[in-house]
Amino acid sequence: MSTDSSKAENCRASASAAFRTGNRNGRPTEVCPERGRGIIARYRDLLPVNNETPIISLSEGDTPLIYCPRLSERVGRRSVVFVKNEGTNPTGSFKDRGMTVAVSKAMEHGATALICASTGNTSASAAAYAARAGILSVVILPAGKIAKGKLLQAFACGAKIVTIKGNFDDALGIVRELGERRHFVIVNSINPDRIAGQKTAAFEIVDVLGDAPDFHLLPVGNAGNITAHWAGYREYQARQRSIKLPAMIGFQASGAAPIFYNRIVEKPETIASAIRIGNPASWKQARAAIAESHGAIDIINDEEIIAAQAWLARHEGIFVEPASAATVAGLFKCCESNEAAYSIQKIPEKSRIVCTVTGHGLKDPDAIIERMNELKSVPATVNAVQRAIGL
Ligand code: F0G
Repeated sequence: MSTDSSKAENCRASASAAFRTGNRNGRPTEVCPERGRGIIARYRDLLPVNNETPIISLSEGDTPLIYCPRLSERVGRRSVVFVKNEGTNPTGSFKDRGMTVAVSKAMEHGATALICASTGNTSASAAAYAARAGILSVVILPAGKIAKGKLLQAFACGAKIVTIKGNFDDALGIVRELGERRHFVIVNSINPDRIAGQKTAAFEIVDVLGDAPDFHLLPVGNAGNITAHWAGYREYQARQRSIKLPAMIGFQASGAAPIFYNRIVEKPETIASAIRIGNPASWKQARAAIAESHGAIDIINDEEIIAAQAWLARHEGIFVEPASAATVAGLFKCCESNEAAYSIQKIPEKSRIVCTVTGHGLKDPDAIIERMNELKSVPATVNAVQRAIGL
């Protein structure tokens, strides 16, 4: 394996050795050239870039694969559950992996403007990478349906924001047409460069675990991410960097579950606004990923999503947005419900399960704020504070 990715791994080992020895100031004496420069630097040989491609990166990827003892205990059967926390990407979601490739390729082809439809995270990511590239981003959003944190990100990075009286599926329809007619590069996941970049999440998981996990769970909206993960796992296996392939298990919100019900949902509804999608662009590819991996697609309702969001924050310290909590709600369903599309009640002992959480909790605070009690101030004395703590 004389590839950039294996070089980066070796470099990680030698860099940490350098950290241990350090120079007289205790500073590292060696710096890894690939790390901290994003997924293209790390996985260049597996991505559609060449010497002419200007690399537009915000140092995305290399997100933590967090071992979760309490989740593992709840699943039982001595299973080992990891959370892949994509909320630590530069704009707080997994979208940055695909966006660095899509925007780099767009720049290679001389683009001056990007366009996307979004439920929020794609627009935040597109706006940031367009700003980094020095070009315009136009984001088409369903009016009143975008979580505040995400809208703020697009605004702060200077995107031209257009809200429509329609849903995400309507917005994507408009973007498809404008992409054909005008000089915009579409950076939704219908752009294959987005999928190529998002594959790197699967590469990273295998690089850390030494092989693919047995099960990979993730939320499904427009279905690009499940498609990309499956492509990534297959590619690594084909290149003999892994032996196994995981079962891919996707979760949709029960009010926005076209793939599960096998029909377009005209008016998708869920508290998890990121996956409020009724006609996913990568529907067929997601179906193929599920069938080929012997996985499943299942649904969870809003109460289950909110309960899982709170559980993960309180038991593992990982605060994610509702769409991401769909994965954890789904894991609980697979373990505990007789109605689950995929039961993992009888999985082999010591199975390795990876749950992707796709976006940071701070992006979408409304549901949590509603449940917070009003905070009452107390006098600035030790006694008053002690009384307020109640211990
Ligand atoms: N989780 C989050 C936080 C998302 O933002 C999305 C999609 C998904 C899961 C689903 O991923 O679409 O690849 O199946 N968000 C898109 C957007 C649609 O516009 O930000 P998917």
